[in-house]
Amino acid sequence: MSSDTDLFDDVARWQADAAEALGMQGVELVAALSPGPGFPGTLHALAERIVASGARDVVDLGAGLGGVSAWLAAATGATVVGVEPESGSRDAAHRLFPGLDLRAGSAADSGLDAASADVVVAVGVTSLLDSLDGLLTEARRLLRPGGFLAIVDMFLANGDIEVDGPNTLRSTAALQRLVRDAGWERSDTDRQSDAAPDEEWVAAAVRLMHAVSDDHGGSPEVGAWIADRRKLAGWIESGHVVAGLVMLTPIEDAGPRRSADRLLRIYLQDHHATSSAGVRRVRRLADAEAGGPDGAVLDRLATEIAAERDVQARVMRVLGVQPQPAKEAVAKVAERAGLLKRNGRLVRRSPLTSLVELETMTIAARGKLAGWEALRAALGTDHVGGIDLAQLIAESEEHLAAFAGLHRRRAAEVLSVTTDPPTAPA
Ligand SMILES: C[S@@+](CC[C@H](N)C(=O)[O-])C[C@H]1O[C@@H](n2cnc3c(N)ncnc32)[C@H](O)[C@@H]1O
Repeated sequence: MSSDTDLFDDVARWQADAAEALGMQGVELVAALSPGPGFPGTLHALAERIVASGARDVVDLGAGLGGVSAWLAAATGATVVGVEPESGSRDAAHRLFPGLDLRAGSAADSGLDAASADVVVAVGVTSLLDSLDGLLTEARRLLRPGGFLAIVDMFLANGDIEVDGPNTLRSTAALQRLVRDAGWERSDTDRQSDAAPDEEWVAAAVRLMHAVSDDHGGSPEVGAWIADRRKLAGWIESGHVVAGLVMLTPIEDAGPRRSADRLLRIYLQDHHATSSAGVRRVRRLADAEAGGPDGAVLDRLATEIAAERDVQARVMRVLGVQPQPAKEAVAKVAERAGLLKRNGRLVRRSPLTSLVELETMTIAARGKLAGWEALRAALGTDHVGGIDLAQLIAESEEHLAAFAGLHRRRAAEVLSVTTDPPTAPA
């Protein structure tokens, strides 16, 4: 661990003391702890990308006092695990964000399981590393197929690379060259803007800095911390650095690289939009049936179908396809409108409702199966980006059989005919 970061260990704890004393909470607390490059604009851009990708698990390398991890968890709904080498920062984060999962580790050695993340983020960390080799190797190990690494940092506006004390400033072009040599490519989204955080974020950070300075102003650590902040502020004001969000995907080691053509792209986007609606619908059905004889099996199906939708999003990423927000919205409206479909009763849940829903789920499961089969036919292989299509097809067949079975049994329970005795001939 570098002594430059150790230097701020006590300062981290003092920041937590001051934030608590000031009663800081929510966004103000995050802003005070993380007046990062271009915040919160770069954070919003990052969160939008995470949500669009359908990511469930995010790892935040170099999480500091935990503000960005907590903000990302709240903004995206994903599970965020922070990794931070400095114990002072971890102590502060545990106090300020008790619900946050923050572990000891470094960018090169996180201690987390392989293939445990859909997205790895490093916010304000790469500019502290003179080499990115360790971080890139670790991020590749952590990412599941189709996952991506997001680097948010300040970048040199002019020039290539500049070393200044603990900071290594790179241009985005220099970063791109460097990561390409390490087997990564920049994906479609990146953003560069003024590195100044917005005024409210600056005001919160200044308030916290004054409070720490009032309590510990005489200490050399606080002096060094404030000098560091001033140096960064000078770079931002002079335009020496810009804020950037750079999205990177590992280039597959084996096999040809594939990208979907226009029709396959549209096909995958349509399937993703309808399966997002299906995930919500089957979960509602499982909740409505909870405690009943089919509750457990519906709960399992809802969980597996949600996981499968995430795999579908990963397949899309591997093939360079983005979900289409407009299609997702149309599917959502259609799904909501479907809730109003005839069921014989307007307000109370009719026995017909679950029957009709099981029927819809049977049809949807057939569509889901057809989607995987079409993809396998298009690719001519069972494997894409480490994802096993044959296994997904087998799972979809099981889902189809399960829904069809539930539907048949429910129909026998709910529907009946009355048989009148034959009328005697006159
Ligand atoms: C500028 S702070 C950013 C913290 C946090 N990501 C945020 O945006 O609020 C940089 C963080 O990187 C951590 N760091 C420094 N070297 C690191 C390394 N080799 N691996 C992981 N984190 C590191 C520091 O301890 C510090 O918490």
